[in-house]
Amino acid sequence: MNDQPIIFAHRGASGTHPENTMAAFKAALELGAGGIELDVQMTKDGELVIIHDETVNRTTNGQGAIEEMTAKQVKSLDAGSWFHEKFSGEKVPTLDQFFTWASKNKLQINIELKTNKVPYHGIEQLLLEIIEKHRMKGRVIVSSFNINSLKHIIELDPYIAVAGLVWKTPQDAVTIAKQLGLTALHTQVPFALSEYGQEAVNSGMLLRLYTINEVEEWEKVKKCGIPVEGIITDYPERFC
Ligand code: G3P
Ligand code: CA
Repeated sequence: MNDQPIIFAHRGASGTHPENTMAAFKAALELGAGGIELDVQMTKDGELVIIHDETVNRTTNGQGAIEEMTAKQVKSLDAGSWFHEKFSGEKVPTLDQFFTWASKNKLQINIELKTNKVPYHGIEQLLLEIIEKHRMKGRVIVSSFNINSLKHIIELDPYIAVAGLVWKTPQDAVTIAKQLGLTALHTQVPFALSEYGQEAVNSGMLLRLYTINEVEEWEKVKKCGIPVEGIITDYPERFC
């Protein structure tokens, strides 16, 4: 497992393309990634859109909080020019649009529910409905920093793959993961190399590491011998 982890393109091939756009996702596929990681927020009229921040300010030419905008408003924005003028015209994709594309390839899809700042009511149910509509359940991993969101997903569908997102090296992450019955953790390198990383593996959990952008860093992890199932990187081309 350690030598050939699945390479997840973080927000698509976001080192070279505007993050969380179809251009970044298509590039990830072309570069040979085995998976894509993306972030989901919800508009005020209940559409799931792929964007990292709670506002459109950083990654589009617009301003405003997604929870206060309609899907039509979000979709009208330019999500490419901030990165480079050659990507002008790229849009904020909806998850529905993304799945229409992804259902035609074999990529694994890690959907991060961005409910750690805005508690989008009903987002978990909506997510499962869209996954079901596109018959993507077998290829999707749902992750979140929000434990309540993970609990809710598991309650609604105990068979979908769910991963806990861990920031830094909290002492109680593995205990909480066990209580929730999680089968995977997405962590940073120091956690994976700590006693907690080993404990997670000993408990049967898969580890996927974010965000590894340098091959040298990955080589160091490999030398430590901890089994890693996936790498989440902005530069899939460096690992494929
Ligand atoms: O899923 C791993 C990573 O994406 C979590 O952090 O801020 O890049 O969404 P962030
Ligand atoms: Ca993310």
